[in-house]
Amino acid sequence: MTEAIAYFQGRTCPYHPPAGYQPLRDAGPLAHVTLYDGRKVWAVTGHSEARTLLSDPRLSSDRQNPAFPAPFARFAALRQVRSPLIGVDDPEHNTQRRMLIPSFSVKRTAALRPQIQQIVDGLLDRMLAQGPPAELVSAFALPVPSMVICSLLGVPYSDHEFFEEASRRLLRSRTAEEAEEARIRLEDYFDELVAHKEKTPGEGLLDELVHDELRTGALDREDLVRLAMILLVAGHETTANMISLGTFTLLEHPGQLARLKAEEGLLPAAVEELLRFLSIADGLLRVAMADIEIGGQVIRADDGVLFPTSLINRDDGAYPAPDELDVGRSARHHVAFGFGIHQCLGQNLARAEMEIALRSLFDRIPDLRLAVPAAEIPFKPGDTLQGMIELPLAW
Ligand code: HEM
Repeated sequence: MTEAIAYFQGRTCPYHPPAGYQPLRDAGPLAHVTLYDGRKVWAVTGHSEARTLLSDPRLSSDRQNPAFPAPFARFAALRQVRSPLIGVDDPEHNTQRRMLIPSFSVKRTAALRPQIQQIVDGLLDRMLAQGPPAELVSAFALPVPSMVICSLLGVPYSDHEFFEEASRRLLRSRTAEEAEEARIRLEDYFDELVAHKEKTPGEGLLDELVHDELRTGALDREDLVRLAMILLVAGHETTANMISLGTFTLLEHPGQLARLKAEEGLLPAAVEELLRFLSIADGLLRVAMADIEIGGQVIRADDGVLFPTSLINRDDGAYPAPDELDVGRSARHHVAFGFGIHQCLGQNLARAEMEIALRSLFDRIPDLRLAVPAAEIPFKPGDTLQGMIELPLAW
């Protein structure tokens, strides 16, 4: 076993895992790391061990469990409140997930494609009319998923400045107070929105939940408000980062981009490969409810267990030459969307958005390029969610 190195460390390249995690990769498939508060937890880097453990009911997602590990100071504040769905275990989790599954099915998502295309086309029209240059995050990468999730949930997009800023604070604040304040503002917002929908029903998933689950008592008001917040935050920040970082990564790998342009049919595989390669949701957490033997080690009850997806997705036992971007490879079975009962609910939607956004962007602007040298472009610091802060482009 290695020394328990510090986790989280910052990426030095926006698309590679931090160089400081190399000892973990060398030690695999399980090793100890030290969190910010000095606590030692297990880090699982083996692909097969990660998938086994992420589907093991003895690992819990209940953040209110006092033994649940806190990756940052802000997390300690957020764990005071119950997080439906993402922060509860079965059978409760299953009941809540079943209420949402139909809205995120392959079929429902396929039906949304024309609307996603329309949103993408409109934003590209505007970007082309105003540029070059353009700042891709604010002009395209963020508004695409934001507009799509607003329409799906029935949240007015006119409030986007408020909720995008509050989500950023919730996900990125360095202090517990700032994160807590953002959570309260978002909850108050959704509390008002739910009250409005109770009086004046509209169209959208939240309206359906008010009608089918709140009125019948299947979901209480507090859970509905928090669920709405989770869906909105998870639905826009993640995909926005994949679009911006995916674009940057393709521009930095011109050979792979040329392959993708030459062979349209590669797009779905390329999206999977970008998900694997970038692993933007890095560092999933669980707590053990019982002793678990795995990979020659014993995880004890109450131990914290961390899943660094950026390392798991680069296990060379699962992917040959894992540090290379290869848009033609089969990256299926990556854990960029997690695995097991909490595997991303919005993955079909995210895939559709990424495919449409990347295809349209490179089709409409074939000579797209970075407007400044790559080293000058700011990306998000070491944290659970990777992405570009800004992406200045020219053509
Ligand atoms: C490329 C974009 C996305 C990535 C990389 C991503 C990643 C993830 C990951 C890793 C998890 C598992 C968390 C865990 O096990 O602790 C997750 C769960 C979740 N994601 Fe996504 N996500 C993306 C887009 C979306 C979108 C568009 C939505 C739409 C609402 C969404 C909604 C959710 C929800 C609700 C959960 C919790 C599911 C549960 O606990 O059953 N995500 N996501």
